[in-house]
Amino acid sequence: MKVINTIQALRAELSSARAAGKSIGLVPTMGALHEGHASLVRRSVKENDVTVVSVFLNPTQFNDKSDLEHYPRTLEADCALLEQCGATIVFAPSVAEIYPEPDTRQFSYPPTDSVMEGAHRPGHFNGVCQIVSKLFSYVEPDRGYFGEKDYQQIAVIRRMAEDLGFKLQIIPCPVVREPSGLAMSSRNTLLTDAERQTAACIYAILKESKELAADHEVDEVREQVIQQINAVDGLEVEYYSIVDGLSLADVHSWNEAESIVGCITVYCGSKPIRLIDHIRYK
Ligand code: PAJ
Repeated sequence: MKVINTIQALRAELSSARAAGKSIGLVPTMGALHEGHASLVRRSVKENDVTVVSVFLNPTQFNDKSDLEHYPRTLEADCALLEQCGATIVFAPSVAEIYPEPDTRQFSYPPTDSVMEGAHRPGHFNGVCQIVSKLFSYVEPDRGYFGEKDYQQIAVIRRMAEDLGFKLQIIPCPVVREPSGLAMSSRNTLLTDAERQTAACIYAILKESKELAADHEVDEVREQVIQQINAVDGLEVEYYSIVDGLSLADVHSWNEAESIVGCITVYCGSKPIRLIDHIRYK
């Protein structure tokens, strides 16, 4: 496994792989890696000759600077895990390497990037599109691997890739969870043990709501989920939206779309830590 810090060295390494007819998989990450990330890397290793994992804490997608400051940075441990997973190249550039000049590009793919996380974290998806479009053009991957943990992010990246004419296949990968059901996240390390237990209620309540959906309207299910989670000490719902799984537009009846997903953001604990999750109704 090679650790590469510059775009030039990355391009040189990949052009020889491409000339040899090798397929390239890309797994973009911000580091602080856990089993969720590892599942994406293992899948890419299985499906491609070369797997590039980027480890870059992208400042432009953080609308909250304190979130960026507190984000865990663990490059050494990340590289050990990536080596174990069989990654070929770790691309770990500096901020100056990626943004020698401020990136002034504006991306807009409503409703995918304007609802839910888009509405509550202004500029977030613009920053995601800035970094992911740069990575796609440096690596020119055949396949890009993204976790359904960030359900909305995949929808936005699909639109961006279509818009800019990137030819890669976007591969969505299932959420990896703790035994408690809590979706794995780099932010979970910021929770106390007690808060982690509390946070596990989020997915438990989402799962139960699938049964409610059998004989309740969309709006009733949404209200119930919000009430039940807010009733747990230490949890506070920021939003719960039940949406078309592809366009992410709100739905109000279970017949309105072929795929329907509930997306939630919850504040947990005293700091508090912002957690996201989702559930598929159909
Ligand atoms: P990051 O949060 O590090 O996540 C990197 C990738 O791992 C994302 O595609 C995310 O959805 C996936 N992932 C995280 N936790 C997961 C879990 N529990 N199960 C399955 N997949 C999981 O998402 C980002 O970074 C950034 O926005 C990025 C795309 C790298 C752009 O900066």
